[in-house]
Amino acid sequence: MKGKLESLIDRQKLPVHVAIIMDGNGRWAENKNLDRISGHREGMKSVRSVITAAKDLGIGYITLYAFSAQNWQRPKSEVDALMELLKHYLLKERDKLIENGIRLNAIGRLDELPKTVFDVLKETMEMTKQGREMTLTLALSYGGREEIVDAVKKIISDGSVSPAFINEADLTHRLYTNGMPEPDLLIRTSGEMRLSNFMLWQIAYAEIYVTRTLWPNFRKRHLMKAIINYQNRERRFGLTGEQLKKREAI
Ligand code: IPE
Ligand code: IPE
Ligand code: MG
Repeated sequence: MKGKLESLIDRQKLPVHVAIIMDGNGRWAENKNLDRISGHREGMKSVRSVITAAKDLGIGYITLYAFSAQNWQRPKSEVDALMELLKHYLLKERDKLIENGIRLNAIGRLDELPKTVFDVLKETMEMTKQGREMTLTLALSYGGREEIVDAVKKIISDGSVSPAFINEADLTHRLYTNGMPEPDLLIRTSGEMRLSNFMLWQIAYAEIYVTRTLWPNFRKRHLMKAIINYQNRERRFGLTGEQLKKREAI
């Protein structure tokens, strides 16, 4: 049976791509007098629950900001624990991903990951590549600026586009997200109203939803609330309300 929140979701107007800045693990732990790593461990439960929920709701793409290019500067013990948790997650969940038709994808400077993590990641991506229900993208060692710099490097080293003819599509096609739709809805947990270097290019017209809920407490109902909120907004893409009405009528 569908709950009240779920019945408020308009299936015709689902965001195709939901991106999430999973923040607040440290604060969750601090509130409970636990170490930060316990917060990250607890956050994995939210990851599992949100992935299943997104798939059940019919979301096509979910992207999770799991580790930023800047997060390498955290204490080594925390970085190591995060890498272990990631590896553990991939090994433990891969069968479930396959069962559920979820294709795993990753964006970021993946070559900076420890080799064992990189190998398990690549292997899981390969194992799940037939998944057609939903694409789960993990942003790892990811930075939006770094991504743009890498795209510019590719354009220059390709040598195929002359500078006068470089357009948006040339860049878009060289981003890590090449081939993916742009996020429609960007969620950030734990109340911070900033992007922290996440998908700077791709979120140009995303609707932003910030909740004070800390990531380890985030579950399906929070995702549904974000989607309902998104569905009650008017996306304009630079046009007037009048123009949009005409467009909808076509
Ligand atoms: C998000 O939680 C997880 C990562 C950045 C890896 P934080 O660890 O940033 O938690 P807070 O922001 O300190 O509460
Ligand atoms: C953003 O969170 C990165 C991830 C969620 C992986 P941070 O906690 O690193 O961002 P800041 O430091 O608050 O900007
Ligand atoms: Mg944080």
